[in-house]
Amino acid sequence: MSKSGPVISLREFRRRRQELMDMMDENCIAILPSARVMSRNSDVDYQFRQDSDFQYLAGFPEPEAVLVIIPGREHGETILFCRERDPEAERWHGKITGPERAMQLYGLDDAFPISDIDDILPGLIEGKSKLYYSMGANHDFDGQIIHWVNSISTNQQSGSRPPGEFSHLGNLIHELRLFKSKQELEVMRHAAHATAVGHKALMELTAPGRYEYQLEAALLNGFMMEGARSPAYPSIVGSGENANILHYTDNDAELKEGELVLIDAGAEYQCYACDVTRTIPVNGKFTEAQREVYEIVLAAQLAAIDMVRPENHWNQPHEAAVRVLTEGMVRLGLLEGDPAQLIEEEAYRKFYMHRTGHWLGLDVHDVGEYQIDGEWRVFEPGMVTTIEPGLYISEALKDVPARYRGIGVRIEDNVLVTRSGNEVLTSMIPKSVAEIEAAMAVG
Ligand code: GLY
Ligand code: MN
Ligand code: MN
Repeated sequence: MSKSGPVISLREFRRRRQELMDMMDENCIAILPSARVMSRNSDVDYQFRQDSDFQYLAGFPEPEAVLVIIPGREHGETILFCRERDPEAERWHGKITGPERAMQLYGLDDAFPISDIDDILPGLIEGKSKLYYSMGANHDFDGQIIHWVNSISTNQQSGSRPPGEFSHLGNLIHELRLFKSKQELEVMRHAAHATAVGHKALMELTAPGRYEYQLEAALLNGFMMEGARSPAYPSIVGSGENANILHYTDNDAELKEGELVLIDAGAEYQCYACDVTRTIPVNGKFTEAQREVYEIVLAAQLAAIDMVRPENHWNQPHEAAVRVLTEGMVRLGLLEGDPAQLIEEEAYRKFYMHRTGHWLGLDVHDVGEYQIDGEWRVFEPGMVTTIEPGLYISEALKDVPARYRGIGVRIEDNVLVTRSGNEVLTSMIPKSVAEIEAAMAVG
């Protein structure tokens, strides 16, 4: 069965470039390079992943490309430099689009071979008052920008003028990226669907004696069978005490009877990320102690999700999660004292040391400001955030009740802000104790 899912249309890419141009000053130019191919070893490269800002504006999937935007340019406002077609190279490495076809296929006004960029780009920069560029993201390209600008400066006697002002292009693009369009949400829903297929297959496979990487294989198979060609970040499959290592990716331990396993994994589809965590019992049934901890994290997550709605600010979900978690920690005897005081002292950080969410989109930790003028940002429809509280009770903590030691739980979903509140994009993945136990009983 072949799979095809939603894609971002040419019209939408054009609309994004227009929106960017509407934000730019008069008489300016924006320059944006593609990602580079990275060497893995010898003749082997890492799988190519397009730069997210470049992808957002150009939709062009190749390396060695540069997008240039010049609002009001008579011969075309959007210009792409890219590799020329080369039958011999294409025989070895696959198809190259080439400038002529790229122009048509990606709805751009003009296109040139990347090998001509040194001859053409200084002429396009010259005379512009302002250059928009994201300095610091690509050191090689930073050097080239400086070189092109210098080449104009050295010709100043002959009347050439370099831009008088430089501005960070990312700041403009990132504000656009924060608000997801209808098409973006369709793509993100498909990433969530592929993620769900992977997580459910994993739940069926999980049993004592399996290895963490075998669970990872079930995830990847599920993602790819639904058209997501890669995970959005290295999958975390941490059983037992490994769940308490926040960025664990070794994934090489054997699953043991009576343990929990924490899975933080999401598919990337059309460059859009999904980011989901579930924590499940290796043998399919939560123990009483595991369930006690799990129910607290789940209550915290639901309380936090409830705070995701227009008018509320960015930190309210975190505050709600911390409140429910801290009260729960006191009930379990992990902390002692008055919850309000413990929150004030940040005592919860012994068991909950990260924040409750982050923006989600083309990047798993997506772009977009969390504060404006020192104040937490207010939620608006179209924003997508993760909500991911957890409790991590390391075995090493000898001063906590023995029955909870070695338990690590995180629950993470992806939440869209809507006009009336929110929508959980990943709600089809089993989450309650009863849902998880039922999904695991299938295997
Ligand atoms: N998977 C990374 C995160 O949850 O933020
Ligand atoms: Mn995650
Ligand atoms: Mn996350």
